[in-house]
Amino acid sequence: MTTTELPAAAAGELTIGGDLRVRRMGYGAMQLAGPGVWGPPADPGAAIALLRRAVELGVNHIDTSDYYGPHVVNELIAEALHPYPEDLVIVTKVGARRTPDQGWPAALSPDELRRAVHDNLGRLRLDRLDVVNLRIVAEGGGLSPSDSIATQVQALAELREQGLLRHIGLSNVSVEQVEQARSITPIACVQNEYNVLRRRDDALVDTCAREGIAFMPFFPLGSFTLQHDSATGADTKVPQSSPLRDDAVDDIARRHGATAHQVALAWLLARSPAIACIPGTSSIAHLEQNIAAAAIRLTAADQHDLATAPARG
Ligand SMILES: NC(=O)c1ccc[n+]([C@@H]2O[C@H](COP(=O)([O-])OP(=O)(O)OC[C@H]3O[C@@H](n4cnc5c(N)ncnc54)[C@H](OP(=O)(O)O)[C@@H]3O)[C@@H](O)[C@H]2O)c1
Repeated sequence: MTTTELPAAAAGELTIGGDLRVRRMGYGAMQLAGPGVWGPPADPGAAIALLRRAVELGVNHIDTSDYYGPHVVNELIAEALHPYPEDLVIVTKVGARRTPDQGWPAALSPDELRRAVHDNLGRLRLDRLDVVNLRIVAEGGGLSPSDSIATQVQALAELREQGLLRHIGLSNVSVEQVEQARSITPIACVQNEYNVLRRRDDALVDTCAREGIAFMPFFPLGSFTLQHDSATGADTKVPQSSPLRDDAVDDIARRHGATAHQVALAWLLARSPAIACIPGTSSIAHLEQNIAAAAIRLTAADQHDLATAPARG
């Protein structure tokens, strides 16, 4: 069986940065680390099997960071998949570091960004990174949505000129920061929190589609949300008790014989051709369900019900 016959192909493809063609149903690897995205998973062999299964099912876009674990997730990816399939696109991110108390403070100085790019190259066993997302982090003296990110974007642009990365993306950014970055250098993709229940970035998704920028929503299944405290500037990751326990999503899932999570992914794929999904899971069964969601076609009635349902924010 060739990969093009496998289920991920049902999602169609998009191009990142004008030259990296990926299937729109990818995989987010953050859940492969231990609890709290800290340390190794209970069963590293299962994590490796999951990565290989994802590729076998046609996934050719994996999202990661060297600060997942830290280091653990990149090491698992390299162990499972290196030497990488020619069409595999690995998107990583820089901008945070981990502390022994499992914190995620900012690491946004040019030196820290350079070091992080080299750390990703080393652990992923690559000479050049496909895409590096600059993740804007407020904690630990970092940057807020209204701050300039010019210094950081320039630092990554220099690393690209040195041949260490192919494309620059942005994560957890405001519309103004996207505009500022684009005035400095081409931006290939944006990764912000966005899902069927959290649509604050509706306008940004449309801008990305218009401008040929890929949009990879994080928390696509709504398992967490970020709460920004403007007084302290900190973003807190808040677990959602029943993120997809939503009447409209549940009704549509029943109509399609699908799960709510699958409907959430199908909604993202239908929402904009600029969107590539990176659902995270540590379970092969969930991985397979998520990939199968690429084949769900929401009807106009489904779309209407989801658009008009209350409690969207
Ligand atoms: N740029 C950023 O700041 C940022 C922030 C967060 C995440 N990310 C990236 O985005 C990716 C996705 O985000 P995420 O993993 O945090 O959240 P998510 O994809 O919204 O949800 C992951 C959670 O949903 C569960 N899940 C997955 N598939 C499921 C299914 N079919 N049925 C039921 N439960 C399911 C997983 O548990 P199981 O393991 O039990 O399946 C896990 O707890 C990450 O992996 C990471 O690569 C980026």
